[in-house]
Amino acid sequence: MTDSWWKKAVVYQIYPRSFADSDGDGMGDLRGVIDHLDHLAELGVDVLWLSPIYPSPQDDNGYDISDYQDIEPLFGNLAVFDELLAGAHARGMKLIMDLVVNHSSDEHQWFLESRSAKDHPKRDWYWWRPARAGMEPGTPGAEPTNWGSVFGGPAWEFDEKTGEYYLHLFSRKQPDLNWENPEVREAVYAMMRWWLDRGVDGFRMDVINMISKVIGEDGSLRDGRLSAGAAYADGSDSFIGGPRLHEFLQEMHREVFEGREGLLTVGEMPGVTVEEARLHTDPERHEVDMVFQFDHVWVDRGPDPWLLQPLQLTALKAILGRWQAGLADLGWNSLYWNNHDQPRVVSRYGDDGPQYRVASAKMLGTVLHLHRGTPYVYQGEELGMTNYPFGGIEDFRDIEALGQYRQALDLEGRSAEEVLTVLRARGRDNARTPMQWDDSPQAGFTTGTPWLAVNPNHREINAAADRADPDSVFHYYRKLIELRHTEPAVAEGDFTMLLPHDERLYAFTRRLGTTELLVIGNFSGEPARAEIEDAGSWSSAELVLTNVEPAPVDLTLGPWQAVVYRRAVRP
Ligand code: NOJ
Repeated sequence: MTDSWWKKAVVYQIYPRSFADSDGDGMGDLRGVIDHLDHLAELGVDVLWLSPIYPSPQDDNGYDISDYQDIEPLFGNLAVFDELLAGAHARGMKLIMDLVVNHSSDEHQWFLESRSAKDHPKRDWYWWRPARAGMEPGTPGAEPTNWGSVFGGPAWEFDEKTGEYYLHLFSRKQPDLNWENPEVREAVYAMMRWWLDRGVDGFRMDVINMISKVIGEDGSLRDGRLSAGAAYADGSDSFIGGPRLHEFLQEMHREVFEGREGLLTVGEMPGVTVEEARLHTDPERHEVDMVFQFDHVWVDRGPDPWLLQPLQLTALKAILGRWQAGLADLGWNSLYWNNHDQPRVVSRYGDDGPQYRVASAKMLGTVLHLHRGTPYVYQGEELGMTNYPFGGIEDFRDIEALGQYRQALDLEGRSAEEVLTVLRARGRDNARTPMQWDDSPQAGFTTGTPWLAVNPNHREINAAADRADPDSVFHYYRKLIELRHTEPAVAEGDFTMLLPHDERLYAFTRRLGTTELLVIGNFSGEPARAEIEDAGSWSSAELVLTNVEPAPVDLTLGPWQAVVYRRAVRP
């Protein structure tokens, strides 16, 4: 993959179960995506990323896959998938799949065979280990390590039949595949080639930096650090960026991608450092095109997981500035505020009240899309969709919210209210409420009962209204996307952060050849003046884009205003 076409591209993520339901069962489906391809083409995005659509018991909404080479019947079948792929391609959009191979479903044939007997040839395709030495198998604390799983409870499940435990970093229905075994790797690569041969344009790789684990000489895994008050330990030292990760990704590249052009690969990597990301995205090393890092979405998370931290803008700028600088000369950034695991950004870092929702959604889009890197838009972000007004725990469906709630209340002495406060603000279901297409009772998402409630604000916030209003978030996102396509300084220019100590303004320049852009976003409901060098010259520069009229005077931005200026400079 020597051509880096994706530097000019914008990716749109579809979470199929929440996008559009064509058959009234309350669950989005592939036909629903086909029906709305024109919305995406009009927005101008270049690539669609589909969250998992494979057969799955849906324990983690499809991130638990029981067959990698078919389509979940709730969503359609391979013929409908081919139609969708052709429909995207016909509109000039590529389509990438979600690749979930750190784990499979426990209902995958591979795992059914693996768990059937200790001497089955596929036993070693997963992480089976005996109970802790000297402990009675199946009793509390006898797990092979003290690690907690991401969704609450231990990371090990006891299997009565064979008397051993299997590892699951996520739910007990998501057993981790053993990448040490070359047969596992070859099976995964063969499956990936099958999809590429079918015409897909690449993969978003789920928690791909967890596939290599630290193993002792005797094959054991080691205990993790247990923090005060926690029921289980954090084992991530043993599985984030493990010892063979680079080797596995390079092998995958050789076996799957070599000789194929025009593809996109993006590795989801919680906890990845800038230094590691440089290695992963150095084109000479042939690993992945870009990674999803998490530092900027963990900026409002303190040491106590059940205490909300307000956004500190200076910290956010320090993080994103570090990533911009770290990948300036080598590698490439992906840029995102939202996905199916994050709360809605306008509620999180903006202001989702009626006065400033539109302005702050546009400001956040401006700041993100003008960075150097490939921007990702998550369904509904282009409408400024907000968090949902969740009440009690019965309103949530997400396995993570439910599992963490139980663990916090039952084992860690937390109150329901403190946990709910955080889940309401940060829970993943905020991103998963149905896409708001119009102001009809179920927002045009379904004619049936939606699997997760539609946000009541769909009467005001919906695609039909946004498409009809030239000043909407939707039409503003169209301009942002077009700017990346037409202004080379947006895609390729150098990045320089300004005003690192300002708590209200996010300001930076981009420069390519004789073009320089100045981008400023006001992250507050107060007017704020950008005290930058050259303010006078910038004030009279060409105003390329602003989200709020009138244009600022003397670089004093109004509440939640954003501006992009352009000027010619000497090379
Ligand atoms: C990351 C995915 O984005 C998330 O939705 C999922 O729960 C975990 N990986 C496990 O697959």
